[in-house]
Amino acid sequence: MAKAAASLSGRDILDLDSMTLDEYELVMRTATEMKKIMGRDIKKVPSLRGKSIINLFYENSTRTRTSFELAGKYLGADVVNITAASSSVAKGECLRDTILTVQSMACDAIVMRHPIEGAAAYAAKVAAPVIINAGDGAHAHPTQGLLDMFTIREQGKNFKDLKMVIIGDVLYSRVARTNIAAWTKLGADVHVAGPMTLLPHDIEALGVTVHKRVEEALEGADVVDILRIQLERQQKGLFPTTREYARIFGVNEEKLKLAKPDVTVLHPGPMNRGLEISWEVGYCDNAAIRTEVQNGVAVRMALLFLTLTGGKQIENAN
Ligand code: NCD
Repeated sequence: MAKAAASLSGRDILDLDSMTLDEYELVMRTATEMKKIMGRDIKKVPSLRGKSIINLFYENSTRTRTSFELAGKYLGADVVNITAASSSVAKGECLRDTILTVQSMACDAIVMRHPIEGAAAYAAKVAAPVIINAGDGAHAHPTQGLLDMFTIREQGKNFKDLKMVIIGDVLYSRVARTNIAAWTKLGADVHVAGPMTLLPHDIEALGVTVHKRVEEALEGADVVDILRIQLERQQKGLFPTTREYARIFGVNEEKLKLAKPDVTVLHPGPMNRGLEISWEVGYCDNAAIRTEVQNGVAVRMALLFLTLTGGKQIENAN
């Protein structure tokens, strides 16, 4: 029997563990087309005209919220932003009521960021619109994972041949968990390094190699993903001082020399410069950090398009 073509029509996007390789591929191909639209003088197509998208953000965001908003607008959708601090959440409304309230306004998709793991999955259970997880606590950040995947592929790198290293606060990072899930599924050789207090105790079960020393992990690396220290999620004093963290685990030019000369440096942003990443590394030629932001718009356009239309109108989008 012929294999059904991958489709994300009507799907909630909660994490990358539950997506197949064919679905990753579909998003990558669609994002390539979307990036062409972004390069046009007039960046607007009618693919999502008549659709409405609500960005429901319970945590701060610059890149993710703005790029979802632009992605929806470039495709002709109506996009409304709700931030917890300026909504009835501040009056004590519970998550379920807020979700049902926005659903009543006939929205087609809710893009949601929330500090609690599982919040997006809960929303998907109680609400009819497509739910796209824009980050739930330390659990998952699927669109960050897809934009990182797109950025690496765009550089012509093949996951099966790559040594990929994730450095820093793995314990509290939804980006780390998401990229580990995707990169191992794609067949890459994935390594992590960071303070032992910031590595989950069962991390090896995720199929990664653990290093105590950043230098050891960086040896011959093709891709290095530097994580932001999640100061807002950890109040337990899990590393002694920021100065000591920067010295031992911060990635600077000296340490980066251990990686391959064409190493791709990723950071999801916002960067704590001088802490997990030095100023020089943040601006070096290998840094793909601003490309990640650009690709974030293309990938989010692709996901909104695929979930809200089934991707059927791709020809019209060209
Ligand atoms: C990430 C997030 O919020 O998880 N940021 C982002 O979406 N670009 C990473 C982070 O805040 O550390």
